[in-house]
Amino acid sequence: MMKVRKAVFPVAGLGTRFLPATKAIPKEMLTVVDKPVIQYVVDEAREAGIEHFIFVTGRNKAVIEDHFDIHFELYDTLAERGKDTVLDRLQRLQPGPGQTSFTRQQVPLGLGHAVWCARDLVGDEPFALLLPDMIMQSEKSCLKAMVELYAHTGNNIVAVQECDPAETHKYGIVGKGADAHSGFEITAMVEKPKPADAPTNLYINGRYILQPEIFSILENQEKGAGNEIQLTDGMLRLREKQPFYGYHYRGRTFDCGSPEGFIEANVAFALQREDMRERIGRLIDEISGDIHPGSEIRAAE
Ligand code: G1P
Repeated sequence: MMKVRKAVFPVAGLGTRFLPATKAIPKEMLTVVDKPVIQYVVDEAREAGIEHFIFVTGRNKAVIEDHFDIHFELYDTLAERGKDTVLDRLQRLQPGPGQTSFTRQQVPLGLGHAVWCARDLVGDEPFALLLPDMIMQSEKSCLKAMVELYAHTGNNIVAVQECDPAETHKYGIVGKGADAHSGFEITAMVEKPKPADAPTNLYINGRYILQPEIFSILENQEKGAGNEIQLTDGMLRLREKQPFYGYHYRGRTFDCGSPEGFIEANVAFALQREDMRERIGRLIDEISGDIHPGSEIRAAE
């Protein structure tokens, strides 16, 4: 079985749910605590053993390429000033030479089309697909657990988790069959079904391992929900030829494409940081009414 070495990041989206913030700044570059959203997703892929990072970009996204490049003047200045901790951190997050590729989607025709744009860069091997709006917080990274499941099952794997049953129309939803190793067999996939038509409330949370046969299917995939070329429709056709497995992820997922999810991510990741936990926690207590802002002011003795 071939190792999953490459990951695709579709980063061409316009970020319309997040205007005006995303008018000039790509949504993937908005920061959660002190890293851009896209860095969390790339870090997750690296932790899962991914060696090559393929970005499907669009107009106004060039700054993503700059972010993953070496910034000589900055690194030199930090070294001169003895800012070793910051420099170390930057270098740890830095992909190596030749480990990134960038291509453009050119026209926003949907997720299925964006993935298809990566076909030549992926070539004839299995690959991971990570939707960069979704960032995750868990002990073990979602993609890492999927790569482990893949070692047993091969084929295609889609990560899922529960959503509010009233919100199935926002996501791709899967049907659940028999358990298989740490996952289960997927019996159905529907893109954005009404609650009454949804097979379960297990939604596709933005992490996939796919076989390269998906590309020839997407090549002639017709438009589906939202008048877009849908990846889910392509996966349904691939499922006629190859099995699909679900990985039930149990950590947190934040949809950073929406302001609410982005704020939640900032709070959750700040609360995980030793240097911020107390201060942010105190603010939340204060706002939620447990402590009054002035309650800690004491008169001088
Ligand atoms: C895409 C997928 C959908 C998935 C979702 C996760 O939809 O098509 O199956 O559940 O991402 O965020 P989009 O959010 O692009 O409409």
